[in-house]
Amino acid sequence: MSRPPVVDWSGGHERLASARYGDDLPPWSHLDDQRKIALRDQLLAERERRETLWRCDRVYCDGEPHGPVQPDDPDYPVRHARWNQLPPPDSARWVSDRLGRRVQVSEPWFEWMIMAGRGWGKTRTGAEFVKWRNEHIGAGHRIALIGRTVPDVRDTMIEGESGLMRCYRRSERPNYLPSKRKIEFDNGGVAFCYSSEEPDQLRGPQHHTGWVDELATFYALGEVISNYRLGMRLGNHPRCVITTTPQPHPELRKILTDPKTVVTTGSTYDNLANLAPVFLDNVLRKYEGTALADQELLGRYLDEAEGALWSRKLIERQRADPVLVGPYVAEMEIAVAIDPAGRDKPEASETGIVVAGRLDDEGFVLDDLSGHHTPAAWARIAIGAALKWNAGYIVAEQNNGWDMVKNTLDMVLADMRRNGEPVPRGLRIRPVTASKGKRTRAEPIATLSERGLWWLAGMFVELEDQLATWDPSKPSPDRLDAMVWVAAHLFLRRRGRADVA
Ligand SMILES: Nc1ncnc2c1ncn2[C@@H]1O[C@H](COP(=O)(O)OP(=O)(O)O)[C@@H](O)[C@H]1O
Ligand SMILES: [Mg+2]
Repeated sequence: MSRPPVVDWSGGHERLASARYGDDLPPWSHLDDQRKIALRDQLLAERERRETLWRCDRVYCDGEPHGPVQPDDPDYPVRHARWNQLPPPDSARWVSDRLGRRVQVSEPWFEWMIMAGRGWGKTRTGAEFVKWRNEHIGAGHRIALIGRTVPDVRDTMIEGESGLMRCYRRSERPNYLPSKRKIEFDNGGVAFCYSSEEPDQLRGPQHHTGWVDELATFYALGEVISNYRLGMRLGNHPRCVITTTPQPHPELRKILTDPKTVVTTGSTYDNLANLAPVFLDNVLRKYEGTALADQELLGRYLDEAEGALWSRKLIERQRADPVLVGPYVAEMEIAVAIDPAGRDKPEASETGIVVAGRLDDEGFVLDDLSGHHTPAAWARIAIGAALKWNAGYIVAEQNNGWDMVKNTLDMVLADMRRNGEPVPRGLRIRPVTASKGKRTRAEPIATLSERGLWWLAGMFVELEDQLATWDPSKPSPDRLDAMVWVAAHLFLRRRGRADVA
């Protein structure tokens, strides 16, 4: 069979007709109906092919239109995937570990993290990844689609302009059952929809493939991540793609530095040619020239917040070796601070529990036990820490749920005594008061660090992330708060009075 004649479609139907029949033949009106229908179908098919064109075999393709890669291939008349929008190979790669060292790994990647500016094509890339995995795995393939809210999953990831449905020609589109939050593919694969509002739904079901869109905006981010990872255990190599604009967050940092993660970064400007002028107007005008431009447009992970009180350098300088600090702990005045999780949205915030000690003019963070805890659990953890470190005080903020903290601790202490468990002797539970503003409260402690008097005895990844990324105009994170409270108790309290209260 011969190939159909090469036709330039761009000129409209007259050019098409003349290309087919020669210049002297009559235009459309003289064609018989059958011929018209056939031509229309051909046009529609070509349009759909162009709309769904994505992968080509050209090495490091820049996504611009080009001819056939192999002589018998189709051509690529429209813009399609750039090379870094295709899933990366499993070849050996260099990654950064948690301390920022470069190490080489060669095991297959598990998470493909695409951290790029707005409009880079993240959503489209995620959708095409799901399609690609589904074509390979076929019957029995189980996919998790995870978005911020249920409408986000439906309107962006599935039905959006760069969503999953748009990756398929009309005749091949999978069957979307919104009420069941499920998509059934023709080849037997099934995708299930989840939202970060209901992280518990991810507990239990198992999947081969996952797609997480706009992770940085999630509620209860940590819980979603740990739940979905537990369920990724089907097939030889479960794989996920995480597509998001960057946002400094300890969970994101953990994923970025995980050796089983491959990271792709990119900027809005990479995809300029494919973006609608309105989008460019809105987004570029909103961010260009602002402090957020690097993050929102260039897709940079800003490890340090602008104006953060602690820089990474300062944190590094003020790190002390716990082994060297150890012998002095017995001489220190030690306290444990609790910053209970916000009552408005307890699932999103953690309870900060930080242990610190003071020796003469210097203070040392000894332990960070913060986490998602129930009141009974954090009370036990704090009392346990007081026992272990021989702390004289447990402190909490006066103005924020002090009564609740005090009552919970008293109750748990009473329970422990009744059960004959060891309790710290001479332990006092005290409120701390400090200036109202979050910034004015944290500043004296940051100054202590700068003067070389406040140390971290060990490595506390999450606490350090909060220190380096907290923008003082925003609500302060829990671990940082707890550290500020314990430091305020050790250094800023008027000596001799607090004990009388
Ligand atoms: N390589 C590409 N070729 C053609 N169009 C693309 C390409 N990458 C992205 N697009 C299109 O660019 C637009 C923005 O992509 P989208 O995935 O929504 O961006 P993001 O999720 O990063 O904000 C969409 O219309 C999408 O289809
Ligand atoms: Mg998107």
